[in-house]
Amino acid sequence: MRSFWWVTTILSSSVIAAGQNNEAYSQPSYPSPWGDGKGGWAEAYEKAREFVSQLTLVEKVNLTTGTGWMQGSCVGETVSIPRLGLRGLCLQDGPMGIRFSDYNSAFPAGVNIAATWDRSLGYLRGRAMGRATEGGRNWEGFSPDPVNTGVMMAETSKGAFRLVGEANGYACANSYTLNNLLKRELDFQGFVISDWGADTSGVSSTLAGLDMSMPGDTLFSSGDSYGSANLTISVVNGTVPEYRIDDMAIRIMAAYYKIGRDKYQVPINFNSWNRDIDDPIYATAGREYGIGRVNEHVDVRGNHASMIREIGAASTVLLKNTDGALPLSGEEKFTAVFGSDADADPVGINSVLIMAVTMALLPLAYNKIQALASQADVALVFVNSDSGEEFIVVDGNEGDRNNLTLWRDGDTLIKAVTQNNNTVVVIHSDGPVLVGGWYENPNVTAILWADVLYGRVNPGGKSPFTWGKAREDYSADVLYAPNNGDEAPQIDLTEEPISPLYMNSDHGLSYTTFAYSNIRVRPLRNPAPYVPTSGLTEPAPVFGNFSTDWSDYLFLESSGDPDYGLSADEYLPENATSAVPQPLHPAGGQPGGNPGLYEQVAIVTVDITNTGTVSGDEYISHGGPDDPKIVLRGFDRISLRPQETKEFSVVLTRRDISNWDVVSQNWVVTEYPKTVYVGSSSRELRLEADLSSLS
Ligand SMILES: *[C@@H]1O[C@H](CO)[C@@H](O)[C@H](O)[C@H]1NC(C)=O
Ligand SMILES: *[C@@H]1O[C@H](CO)[C@@H](O)[C@H](O)[C@H]1NC(C)=O
Ligand SMILES: *[C@@H]1O[C@H](CO)[C@@H](O)[C@H](O)[C@H]1NC(C)=O
Ligand SMILES: *[C@@H]1O[C@H](CO)[C@@H](O)[C@H](O)[C@H]1NC(C)=O
Ligand SMILES: *[C@@H]1O[C@H](CO)[C@@H](O)[C@H](O)[C@H]1NC(C)=O
Ligand SMILES: *[C@@H]1O[C@H](CO)[C@@H](O)[C@H](O)[C@H]1NC(C)=O
Ligand SMILES: *[C@@H]1O[C@H](CO)[C@@H](O)[C@H](O)[C@H]1NC(C)=O
Ligand SMILES: *[C@@H]1O[C@H](CO)[C@@H](O)[C@H](O)[C@H]1NC(C)=O
Repeated sequence: MRSFWWVTTILSSSVIAAGQNNEAYSQPSYPSPWGDGKGGWAEAYEKAREFVSQLTLVEKVNLTTGTGWMQGSCVGETVSIPRLGLRGLCLQDGPMGIRFSDYNSAFPAGVNIAATWDRSLGYLRGRAMGRATEGGRNWEGFSPDPVNTGVMMAETSKGAFRLVGEANGYACANSYTLNNLLKRELDFQGFVISDWGADTSGVSSTLAGLDMSMPGDTLFSSGDSYGSANLTISVVNGTVPEYRIDDMAIRIMAAYYKIGRDKYQVPINFNSWNRDIDDPIYATAGREYGIGRVNEHVDVRGNHASMIREIGAASTVLLKNTDGALPLSGEEKFTAVFGSDADADPVGINSVLIMAVTMALLPLAYNKIQALASQADVALVFVNSDSGEEFIVVDGNEGDRNNLTLWRDGDTLIKAVTQNNNTVVVIHSDGPVLVGGWYENPNVTAILWADVLYGRVNPGGKSPFTWGKAREDYSADVLYAPNNGDEAPQIDLTEEPISPLYMNSDHGLSYTTFAYSNIRVRPLRNPAPYVPTSGLTEPAPVFGNFSTDWSDYLFLESSGDPDYGLSADEYLPENATSAVPQPLHPAGGQPGGNPGLYEQVAIVTVDITNTGTVSGDEYISHGGPDDPKIVLRGFDRISLRPQETKEFSVVLTRRDISNWDVVSQNWVVTEYPKTVYVGSSSRELRLEADLSSLS
């Protein structure tokens, strides 16, 4: 759990550092750390070592390389090892449930979970998904806030029980991220998979810490691979050391044993490429290569629908509400509804947002709209903005958003409808949209992100991102085209300007009011001093053996000449193949980092009295001149009956009050006076207390 929390924190601080030009490139970090089974992984590693010791080199390589795009039932599969009873692993996206199949549920997007600020819903969604077997994709993740994202990622992983690290694009060949941050400092014991098609180099990604290349071919359906024969050749010719291929295989098998796949495994009962019960077994090869039972159409939806609805309602954010315009009473005589987004999409309700394929554009007859709007007691106007992956083009938008405005002329529609002085704007969007054109119009009496209107549910969600008035209110734009010649593209991230923002991340109104009182800080114990981890790892272990005689291997002619190539020292980074004991990272030592960081130093408690549903947030000021004003450190969503009072507590760890020190490459608790704040949002800090007694 905790490793994810800190992964996000640390990655975000390294992103900021990369903004300075001299640090635009991360330092190389080699060799790739060998997993050792720390932190609850001992049993899984023992089983994995025993299994991998029995494998031939080609079998090990086959574990680490996908079989190629559309070569199996799943979007990614590894080769089976029937000799030892191992079925190939089936890997299937996506972020909202099982893609490319039917009779399963499409769960709310990560950004909705973030907006609920409800940890138990984060866990329940993960559990249901796991059981069922600008940035265009920001909605797949949770929130820009590292603590919100860390907590929700942890809850999702606990629920889904999927212990898989995933890296994108250049990240899967970045030795600093994978070898140093993930595997050395955070002592990650699982394996790293490339995103589909993101592995672009073979030997260098392998040495930089990538453990599995997916879907296995260089380009989709090319039949060529950086893994497979190329990986075998590079081990036999000595470019990739034996311990590295062993470590890749062990990390994969350890994860397999850790989640109990040896004891519980369901046969693959769906096919990503065909929908009929009996269809070609090999989708790309065609019918003449065999017809078989490829889809069992197993219904795994269970009672997900009610949980999905609950998350939808709980993630609704009330951004504006003048004089109690919402909730609607239900007794309005004439309610006018505008916007194609109010209706189910002709292609199906799930296609409206995110899973979009196409959507009919209705001609908008603005003068009729104005006339109708002006007669209604309340005018509801539904507007949206969409995005996705670059291979699905919707309304001229290839994945990342072209702009931050509403789609389908939403601003013009709102302008027409605001002839009604009681206009409620309902936004369905994958992220912030520019609201400057109408946010302050007094005729816009309420703004909702998503849609509960009648007060049966209190819209207690809080925005997981910040809303600006204009594009300039946001920091770096999406990079739509490479900006650095043949070198890695660079984006300089600057701080967001403070003043022109409308609504901070975590802003959200409620139909009720609530009071915070009685803050207490209780130091938990006299924590032991923080000890930087020191010492060395074991030397790299190897499991099994392999032949270096080329005639023992059967390569297809297309593999090319195995003897071809540069000599290793011409291009291998320093220490990339070193097997000698390596220094431990001072901030590492256990999965998640130095265990001293997780010592609990204090518990902060307040009483919250309320009617309805509220969420409490806790922030800390680290006090230093270069520190952010406040940082989120804990949150939860609490249900209260009218007049009921409950305690809201957050345990602070040493890590919560620490800063990353770039010189010592370790965490330190600075001398600056620290303060803890509790409130309903970062702009509504109700109570504060001094933390100077802690160290
Ligand atoms: C390795 O995988 C290839 C297909 O990618 C397969 O042809 C070969 O038989 C496998 N080798 C072993 C030893 O399992
Ligand atoms: C080995 O990798 C090269 C790219 O470096 C690729 O062109 C070639 O097809 C690969 N060989 C096999 C057998 O996939
Ligand atoms: C923003 O992009 C969307 C999607 O391509 C498009 O419908 C809209 O017209 C664009 N807005 C502006 C102001 O160009
Ligand atoms: C809103 O418009 C209605 C009907 O046109 C009118 O009766 C009402 O007084 C207006 N309310 C305000 C606050 O202007
Ligand atoms: C607000 O609504 C009234 C009608 O009730 C209309 O006369 C006025 O122009 C509207 N104002 C704006 C800023 O849209
Ligand atoms: C691997 O080790 C085993 C047991 O020591 C031995 O029988 C086998 O010949 C070795 N194989 C190779 C390819 O060196
Ligand atoms: C070893 O094999 C790999 C994969 O084919 C190749 O890229 C590399 O150049 C080879 N190195 C040597 C020293 O032959
Ligand atoms: C390579 O490893 C040696 C010790 O094994 C170490 O002294 C040296 O600093 C390392 N070089 C780099 C660039 O990390």
